[in-house]
Amino acid sequence: MSRKFRRTSDFEIVLEVKHDRFIAPPREAQRNWLLNKVVSEFADDLNQLNRLAARFVPGLDAPQIDERTHTELSDEDIMEDWQIPLMRAMASIATETHGDLLEIGFGRGVSAGIIQDMGVRSHTIVECNESVIDRFHGWKAGYPDKDIRLLAGRWQDVADQFSDYDAIFFHTYPLNEQEYVDQAVNSATFAEHFFPTAARFLRPGGVFTYMTNEIDSLSRGHQRALLRYFSAFGVQLQPLQLPSDVRDTWWADSMVIVRAVK
Ligand SMILES: C[S@@+](CC[C@H](N)C(=O)[O-])C[C@H]1O[C@@H](n2cnc3c(N)ncnc32)[C@H](O)[C@@H]1O
Repeated sequence: MSRKFRRTSDFEIVLEVKHDRFIAPPREAQRNWLLNKVVSEFADDLNQLNRLAARFVPGLDAPQIDERTHTELSDEDIMEDWQIPLMRAMASIATETHGDLLEIGFGRGVSAGIIQDMGVRSHTIVECNESVIDRFHGWKAGYPDKDIRLLAGRWQDVADQFSDYDAIFFHTYPLNEQEYVDQAVNSATFAEHFFPTAARFLRPGGVFTYMTNEIDSLSRGHQRALLRYFSAFGVQLQPLQLPSDVRDTWWADSMVIVRAVK
């Protein structure tokens, strides 16, 4: 058994590796280097989280996530205004080439409007909520000459109608409690469940953009998940002004936006 310790005035980390077959490079020195590294990174993360936690807002109690496909949704139910700067930043990534763009989740149509202002050759939108689809038709009437197409349904159910795209803009949320557990709690980032689909329908060099549930950087697990499907990625930090009674399950004053390249 090997043991690594890290003690500070705020916490103590004890790593006990139960047998020598676990993390077993050729040399003992290499093993020590790897184990020390992981403990240092964990300690560094804890200190960083301590600093970041001081910038959180309290937010409201997390609402129960009822089935959100057939419900009539208000603007606030769909997306609170503090997310608009994220929409702008993601839209400018997704419209870099002004090519064929796939947007998952129409919502209030804020990002769709920004994407149209920035200009794309075609704009395919996937949306599953019936009341949001009604909003879409009203919005689209304002763009009579543009190539805008709707695929109505969950992206999981309409992906067989996708073609190839230069950019994919992903912004959905869990539709029920089970999706919340599977896609938000038990994954590196919420968008991870969409990575294989994004990679499959992007042209080589095409970009996939989404916002993360991370504050100031990407976790190693998140980076590894990206590198399984994409050749490269970039991150940018979006400062946010959150109301202290934010309804979303997000409390920090910044968020990382990802630009992944096929
Ligand atoms: C946060 S909103 C998008 C907001 C939008 N970006 C805007 O600027 O207004 C998420 C949208 O994704 C839709 N959605 C959630 N899960 C979906 C899925 N699996 N397939 C298609 N649409 C989905 C929801 O109905 C909702 O309209």
